[in-house]
Amino acid sequence: MRLAAIALFVLFSAIAPPAGSDDLLIADFESADYGAWHVEGEAFGPGPAEGTLPNQMEVTGYLGRRLVNSYFRGDGTVGTLTSPEFTIARRYIAFLIGGGRHPQRTCIHLLLDGKVVRTATGRDTEHLLWHHWDVADLAGKTARLQIVDREQGGWGHINIDQIVQCDELPRVPDRRDEHLARAHAAVAAAVPRARADRERPLFHVCPPAQWMNDPNGPLYHEGYYHLFYQHNPYADEWGHMHWGHVRSRDLAHWEHQPIALWPSLELGEQHVFSGSAARTADGRLMLFYTSIGGRLPEQWAAVPEDSQLVTWRKHSANPLLTEELHGQTKIHEWRDPYFFEHAGRRYLVLGGNLNASAGGQATVTVYRAENEELTRWRYLGVLFTHPDPEVRNIECPNFFRLQDRWMLITSQGQPVQYFLGRLDEEAMRFHAEERGVLDHGHFYAPNTMFDPRGRCLLWGWVNGFPPGRGWRHTLTLPRLLWLTERGHLRQRPVPELARLRGRHVGTAAQALGPESAAELGCQGDCLEVLVEFETAAGAGLRLVPLDSGRPAWDITCDGHTLSVAGVKAPLPQSVGGTPGHAPLRLHVFLDRMLLEVYANEELCISHVLQPAPGAVRVQAVASQPLRLLRLEAWPLDSIWVGGMP
Ligand code: FRU
Repeated sequence: MRLAAIALFVLFSAIAPPAGSDDLLIADFESADYGAWHVEGEAFGPGPAEGTLPNQMEVTGYLGRRLVNSYFRGDGTVGTLTSPEFTIARRYIAFLIGGGRHPQRTCIHLLLDGKVVRTATGRDTEHLLWHHWDVADLAGKTARLQIVDREQGGWGHINIDQIVQCDELPRVPDRRDEHLARAHAAVAAAVPRARADRERPLFHVCPPAQWMNDPNGPLYHEGYYHLFYQHNPYADEWGHMHWGHVRSRDLAHWEHQPIALWPSLELGEQHVFSGSAARTADGRLMLFYTSIGGRLPEQWAAVPEDSQLVTWRKHSANPLLTEELHGQTKIHEWRDPYFFEHAGRRYLVLGGNLNASAGGQATVTVYRAENEELTRWRYLGVLFTHPDPEVRNIECPNFFRLQDRWMLITSQGQPVQYFLGRLDEEAMRFHAEERGVLDHGHFYAPNTMFDPRGRCLLWGWVNGFPPGRGWRHTLTLPRLLWLTERGHLRQRPVPELARLRGRHVGTAAQALGPESAAELGCQGDCLEVLVEFETAAGAGLRLVPLDSGRPAWDITCDGHTLSVAGVKAPLPQSVGGTPGHAPLRLHVFLDRMLLEVYANEELCISHVLQPAPGAVRVQAVASQPLRLLRLEAWPLDSIWVGGMP
């Protein structure tokens, strides 16, 4: 289709490429009546509607002033609208379509001798999008179009506009640059306030300003780790989900990158939800994510336009997965695609639930790519159903092989859980054999990747920060995950973080008791502390603010429970044996308001301290006589190359 010089530039509506000179307009529905079209029933009203009808959600994306809108008198009315005969004289028939997704019931048919030879339905959205049929094989035939509304329930209507015969397909001009410029300007305006906040963490990844939630799509490409995250550029609250982007050469130092993904409002998209990175069979990168609009969730992809992964474009084959894949099965809250490869095949898992209204059956469903480009997918069924009946829904599943076991991570509300077990590869069903909690604190929706050395890396979202400061939330430190010889999960921050360390301080091993604390000659609000006690019961670490008006924060262990600033978790098994009588090693990161604690590489607690302590002194304390084996600390530097943005 040739684009005419005059483009109709209306926010949220498809841009009108008026029929090119080669195109044959079948109908634009701009008149007050249907002319030669034959109307049956009531649904289509007396003539094309002037946009949205009473009690309807806003209809967008149509061209001109009018369209076919069978919401006349609501969803309850039915009818058909049949065109006069015409000759098929171009390769494509293209049209704008919206309304309900009821195959055969809210649809448009192409009829040849009264038989349906092509059909299309809406996608449960009032936003009209282009759809086309390739009719090259029907050239010269006489045909009719029939617009059908036989559905009286929810989404029981169809919207159609601008039906043309053409040899070149109409396109909605991409408005990426405009959307991104607006988003970047909004973030830039919030930066001075965020930067001025002395309580904002310095060595945890966060956006230049405004809101963040889940880490998304970590990947390694041409010498850089790339990490994306759920980001609202417009406020320090959730909304307008984009994908923010940072990159790092060494996992210790990071740089902000331009926002990678944005909601394509002109395609009816409102949010770009969580997802993951994938590679096609020939190694091309794709980001898979859940596209949210005024319709059911769909799984979309974006592809990079440059080797630095700065500029992304939405995949031309979107949507790549829709709920139609599930046939009769309804998956509620279907979102957060996670990609993995196994035995030469490519898969996605997605979160959701089978019967939200009946209270749950939280599931992870699994899909296999049917082509090398990862655009065609087959639904393989339910990989995993959460065993706890009170769990209603699963978000952000991660599923991968870790050494010789399979690991599934589920976010079903805090705390985030993990399951280790086996995969029945024939049936693609996961059998969990062991479970645990990844982090007992302010931690949610982690995402994982394998780096070029085969290490499994994980970031979680730390979500306990206070509102109203021009920034909100961070990610955890990058963590390594691995299994012990007995197959149990361990976690620790990546060793590369040592590059952030300043001058080392430490004390000699010594006896501690209720009267004798050990104190380090090190003060600050960005610190790494390593402390080891010969036995766990009675062991503690105290952060004492230099500002005596602020409360101290304690990490304590009574032999059964570890408590980090009041957040309690059962002591790790490795400290067990005779409970509380094995060494306890704490690896503690204080990043202004954020405390991230690893106990024996087995138990993790990320916790936001309120009020923030400011600069602290560090003391090892004991509520009963015990031996301190080690106490050392380093001030840590900012992760931001060239300072905070
Ligand atoms: C988890 C989550 C995801 C969703 C995203 C939206 O925190 O709810 O399920 O994709 O956040 O921001």
